[in-house]
Amino acid sequence: MPRSKIAGIGKYVPERVVTNDDLKQYMETDDQWIQERTGIKERRYAHRTEETTTTMAVEAAKIAIERAGTTAAEIDFIVFATLSPDYYFPGCGVLLQRAMQMKEVGALDVRNQCSGFLYALSVADQFIKTGMYRNILVVGSEKHSFGLDFTTRGRNISVIFGDGAGAVVLQPTEEESRGILSTHLHSDGESAEILAMYNPGTHANHWAGKQYADFDDAEIAQMFMSHAMIDNAQNFPFMDGQAVFKKAVVKFPEVIMEALEKNGYQSSDIRILIPHQANLRISQFVQQKLKLTDEQVYNNIQQYGNTTAASVPIALCEAWEKGKIKEGDLVCLAAFGSGFTWASALLKW
Ligand code: UT7
Repeated sequence: MPRSKIAGIGKYVPERVVTNDDLKQYMETDDQWIQERTGIKERRYAHRTEETTTTMAVEAAKIAIERAGTTAAEIDFIVFATLSPDYYFPGCGVLLQRAMQMKEVGALDVRNQCSGFLYALSVADQFIKTGMYRNILVVGSEKHSFGLDFTTRGRNISVIFGDGAGAVVLQPTEEESRGILSTHLHSDGESAEILAMYNPGTHANHWAGKQYADFDDAEIAQMFMSHAMIDNAQNFPFMDGQAVFKKAVVKFPEVIMEALEKNGYQSSDIRILIPHQANLRISQFVQQKLKLTDEQVYNNIQQYGNTTAASVPIALCEAWEKGKIKEGDLVCLAAFGSGFTWASALLKW
């Protein structure tokens, strides 16, 4: 059975740099708080009207496709991960297919938030291994800046997120020393509501134990997206940051060790770990726990903030562009986020 390898990788981050101080025009916050708690100095915001999650994905995809030595016409499957799609439906996969004038290939949308890219990579890996497809485009892209609460009320979330996109092209390889060795996917829905965007949605506050049996269809439909929701800022993401932090620092090391053990490696064998860029403090905790050196862990949250599904491919691409990853290097990718979902992938570059 062939393995899949990353044949090409690309990233796109919007031009506009937004510093921590820039956010003070909207909310009570300060640079020191943000840097101390998260490591973030600045993030990028997409052009408000001219850039979308899909257009950024297209830019990253063009680079990945070119570096893979192929063309958009040769791509035979798309897997697109995002939590900030252009539309509630259809997903961004078909919009990318249209924008890049690809053939009428399958386009799969993945909704696993911060772990989205790794879930997408794992799905693509299985399709390559079975021989079903030979050129799969895997994308993670986010336009967070369009869906955040920019008042002081939302500051614990708004300061964290940034926009951007990353993409890879997966192809089969027979080379023993290259390719994706294994992927590991997990979920625990017990805490689904502690990092979530509830609205618009069909939940009718079911999870909060509220009863709406007396409402008629028209009233219930109003609950999908109502004026009251907007007035009460219920259309923005919610996060219990400390609860997420506590779980993340357990699950990140666990899923990394799972990948290493599966393939007979130790943490010292990792050439570079690319953790999802959730919080620099989480990455530092993981580094300490696994006894990794600074050189073994790549962080760029300082410049881009948390770009959820885009963070792993953006960081992987940047590390590779800086010459930090060479052919044959053992690379570990890991992510944790809303769901909760978490995942890892171990590969030989
Ligand atoms: O990728 C998705 C997964 N997400 C994560 O992994 C996030 C994990 N969690 C975190 O990174 C941290 O919990 C945060 C960085 C989000 C927050 O840090 P924290 O130490 O947990 O702060 P907190 O939410 O407990 O808030 C502490 C204080 C509060 O003030 P009081 O009540 O102590 O007076 C907040 O109101 O900090 C205040 N605060 C802020 N102050 C200035 C919250 N946000 C801000 C802000 N600027 N932006």
